[in-house]
Amino acid sequence: MGCSPRGDHDGVHIIVADELQTGSSDSSSGQLGGHGFRACDVDVRNRDTILRTFAEERPDLVVHCAAQPSHDLAASRPFDDFEVNAVGTLNLLEGARQSCPESPFVFLSTNKVYGDAPNELELVELETRYDYADPAYADGIDESMRIDATMHSLFGASKVAADVLVQEYGRYFGMPTVCFRGGCLTGPHHSGAELHGFLAYLARALRDVQTYRIYGYKGKQVRDNIHSYDVCTAMMAFYEAPRVAAVYNLGGGRANSISVLEAIEELEGRFGRPLQREYVDEPRRGDHICYISDLGRLRADYPDWDITISLDEILDQLAELAAPATT
Ligand SMILES: NC(=O)c1ccc[n+]([C@@H]2O[C@H](COP(=O)([O-])OP(=O)(O)OC[C@H]3O[C@@H](n4cnc5c(N)ncnc54)[C@H](O)[C@@H]3O)[C@@H](O)[C@H]2O)c1
Repeated sequence: MGCSPRGDHDGVHIIVADELQTGSSDSSSGQLGGHGFRACDVDVRNRDTILRTFAEERPDLVVHCAAQPSHDLAASRPFDDFEVNAVGTLNLLEGARQSCPESPFVFLSTNKVYGDAPNELELVELETRYDYADPAYADGIDESMRIDATMHSLFGASKVAADVLVQEYGRYFGMPTVCFRGGCLTGPHHSGAELHGFLAYLARALRDVQTYRIYGYKGKQVRDNIHSYDVCTAMMAFYEAPRVAAVYNLGGGRANSISVLEAIEELEGRFGRPLQREYVDEPRRGDHICYISDLGRLRADYPDWDITISLDEILDQLAELAAPATT
């Protein structure tokens, strides 16, 4: 365990602390957004290392994206899941409180903190997707959706614990913390897996001519997709004008929403071939039927921030990157 030598570039000094369990980069230094970074092989569960790293580095901004992101793994490895997602978050919060309490602390939470509650909304079934029946939800689900008294999966429960801790360090200690409750965060480098990161996984299935399984709801389940660039600009908006204990839903909103059936059709068009698909007549437990993030609170608090990358561009980028190299 250790960090590569310190490297400041353009006055911006980025440290990527990651156990590199599921991420795709294993380089110890490189470029991020035009700035140099150095990587530290740090496990967020290792409290002593986390506290020491914070004391040594005293970062101006903390962006916490480390997670055990799988519902299924959480069910088979509940201690690991809770230790990474909940206790790891506590370690980072405490490191920040002890060494840089004034630095904005950004946490990548998830819409799974709402558990199954969004599925209680009345829906209408359209030809290719479900949608909310009540026009009050035309812009999607806002942060007033309840987070308790609903099934979350163990993954969702450990993220709820982390989300509430992040809010508490804001409220109780007055620290500038934010929970961004993510919809589908994606982009051309997303290494999607079968059960999360559906657009990237779908593009890969088309590229590799693999069978894609649709789990329940006739393939009409809806997700809103946000490009990683727009996630980063939201983080930077918060960094520049932080608040205490903020919570925002962060997805692509209605304009970037798409059902599984619609996504298949769009990507089939881009690849010019049909997808091999199989329908499993049993939805995944804890799967949202229709989830669209209402971005109203974020837009109101940060009027200069907005989605800049459309769903079409996201699909183009995924298809371009997933496409086999031509010679
Ligand atoms: N991608 C999405 O659609 C989505 C949606 C909602 C929320 N989120 C949240 O965004 C964050 C990033 O998700 P992602 O999709 O990029 O997942 P990811 O699996 O690609 O990234 C998670 C990262 O955490 C690292 N990690 C895992 N265990 C660690 C540990 N013990 N110590 C240090 N690092 C560790 C992994 O190596 C990986 O790089 C997560 O908090 C996730 O819950 C993602």
